[in-house]
Amino acid sequence: MKKKIIIDTDPGQDDAVAILLALASPEELEVLGVVAVAGNVGLANNSRNALKVVELSGRTDIPVYAGCARPLRRPLVTAEHVHGDTGLNGPDLPEPAIALQDQHGVDFIIETLLAHEPGTVTLCTLGPLTNIAMALNKAPQIASRIAEIVMMGGAYFEVGNITPAAEFNIYVDPEAADVVMRCGAPITILPLDVTHQVQSTRPRIDALRALGNRSGAAVADMLTFSESFDLEKYGWEGAPLHDPCVTAYLLKPELFEGRLCNVTIETASELTVGMTVADYWHVTDRPRNATFMRNGDAEGFYALLTERLARLP
Ligand code: RIB
Ligand code: CA
Repeated sequence: MKKKIIIDTDPGQDDAVAILLALASPEELEVLGVVAVAGNVGLANNSRNALKVVELSGRTDIPVYAGCARPLRRPLVTAEHVHGDTGLNGPDLPEPAIALQDQHGVDFIIETLLAHEPGTVTLCTLGPLTNIAMALNKAPQIASRIAEIVMMGGAYFEVGNITPAAEFNIYVDPEAADVVMRCGAPITILPLDVTHQVQSTRPRIDALRALGNRSGAAVADMLTFSESFDLEKYGWEGAPLHDPCVTAYLLKPELFEGRLCNVTIETASELTVGMTVADYWHVTDRPRNATFMRNGDAEGFYALLTERLARLP
């Protein structure tokens, strides 16, 4: 059964790979639209990068929208130190010929969920959850119509990457993450615990470049640029590849393992704001609102990624 998905994203090199993987899999995924959100860099660059990636894939039929330019309540925190000043440093991609849709991305999310049968549209979130929270606040009736929210965000043992306690996507807009975690829709979380197991080692990047297509070369350039921050920080063989775990879960859920438990977002403490507090061992009676993944099959992931990117131009 083909899944209808909306991709909410702050591209970001890893976002770009997640989008390409989805667009390379039309038998399984019908991408209804791509919505940019402020996160890795500002909204203007994230929106432009989303257009560039859709154009790179050759799927210029896919509409791209701009969503929210800042978090619900807090000043925007960005990550140019990881992704570069454009947010997609690495490949030399042309200025996009395709343009953003006029409609605001939040209204597109609401309209799409209201227009399709309940339980048939999946939201794939690759950045801060501002757009999703705004849509839920503006039209609470959409919550019951969402098939599943599959998000990259949070952490358990891996705690934080932007602070000692918080992962970036949640930290940028913790109030938005709190709204989403409480909305009642089925939620699956791919946290740092999983994405840190999925590392783009040099042989894996070389295999992508060896595909011989423009997408493989661009992805290799993206990952070679964005890896430097993580390699220096963690000293691993490869940098973690975060967002494509969301797409891979949609394509091959058996690559991942976790459990349904409560995940609550810290929004008050300045020391731990943005922390995902996962009650993985059910020591409380808090509602079990999310499937929190803890493990991923890295070999299976890269086999899928490489095989699918080979299909693109
Ligand atoms: O913490 C990793 C997440 O933050 C990824 O989505 C990456 O693109 C950045 O947005
Ligand atoms: Ca992202």
